[in-house]
Amino acid sequence: MEKKTIRDIDVSGKRVLVRVDLNVPLSETGEVQDDTRIRAVLPTINYLISRSAKVILVSHLGRPKGVDEKLRLDPVAQSLSGLLGKEVHKVDQTVSEDIERLAESLDAGDVILLENVRFNQGEKKNDPEFAKKLAQLADVYVNDAFGTAHRAHASVVGVAQYLPAVAGLLLAKEVDALTHLLEDPERPFCAVLGGNKVSDKIGVINRFLDIVDCLLTGGGMCFTFLKAKGLKIGKSVCETEEIDHAREMLAKAEENGVELYLPVDVVVADEFSQQANHKTVAVEDIPEGWLGLDIGPRTVEMYKKALGRARTIFWNGPMGVFEMKPFSYGTEEIAKTIANSSADTIVGGGDSDAALRLYDLEDKISYISTGGGASLKMLEGVPLHGVEALMNKEESVIFHSK
Ligand code: 3PG
Ligand code: MG
Repeated sequence: MEKKTIRDIDVSGKRVLVRVDLNVPLSETGEVQDDTRIRAVLPTINYLISRSAKVILVSHLGRPKGVDEKLRLDPVAQSLSGLLGKEVHKVDQTVSEDIERLAESLDAGDVILLENVRFNQGEKKNDPEFAKKLAQLADVYVNDAFGTAHRAHASVVGVAQYLPAVAGLLLAKEVDALTHLLEDPERPFCAVLGGNKVSDKIGVINRFLDIVDCLLTGGGMCFTFLKAKGLKIGKSVCETEEIDHAREMLAKAEENGVELYLPVDVVVADEFSQQANHKTVAVEDIPEGWLGLDIGPRTVEMYKKALGRARTIFWNGPMGVFEMKPFSYGTEEIAKTIANSSADTIVGGGDSDAALRLYDLEDKISYISTGGGASLKMLEGVPLHGVEALMNKEESVIFHSK
């Protein structure tokens, strides 16, 4: 990575503000349901503790509009304390004079967690005044929030203007892994893209058509492609504004000699429900009024063959509504095929990661990114705001001590 990391600076005795992405799913009763993202930042926190830094963590949780009692970070602090084997002192605000005093009184190795940063109006607006207040708490800024690196928010970008700003170990690892995928993949390189919205994926499909050898599509997004090919898709999801883009991608695949696979059969249902009537049909035979909720078994076999030839596989987005049993076959089979492949396998966060966890396959993947949106942006070739804001390797660090 061309940016400075925590390994490049002296943090001992310093107050270090660490932006982490602890945006984890909570249960109905408010407990942490999946601690993957919490575990992912432990190396950075442990590194800082071992170098006698004073650690001030800042994260968002969900998308609150103002203070939202259900989105306080207390359960996250509790989970982090357990994993760290050390008390994490959680405070009830993000910035205040009290917190400034607390930050000044920290001992080496202490860890505190600030309140959900999105409770503050200034965060999403990247308000310089709010960024300055955050910066006042610390001597150094570390960004380890890969999952949020595509957001130009105050705790991601703004704060880096006021403090020496370097990457944490997770951020650096993620950027390196995805850079390697783009620049030096072992071939054949096969990408599997699914999920509901094609508009989220058009950028990455466009870029991948210059890089990959084969592209497999599934999930709700493939119906816009089927429609672009002139097929009738019943009530399946379709983003009409994207049909032209989809057509352009089909043409580009042909021009570049990339095998772009669309499903040949799908599981359709008469309504969006677990109890719906459902059947498997060829994509040419989707009945009027029915909607496609999974790829069919012939498609699964075809995709398995393509994946069998791959030496590198990237996967983002489920093949169907895998949370509902009748529509989970495609995602489960593709997940198993990827997990059992001897290729280099990289999975981009979000729902695909949830599917891997459901089928207990996480340990069989070479690399799982903690950032869904961020990894797609990066693969699209869009510079990540949070990475751009950090110091370059060759820059010298000047601490503005008080
Ligand atoms: C995520 O889970 O996508 C990241 O934490 C970023 O959150 P956001 O999409 O609400 O900005
Ligand atoms: Mg997101």
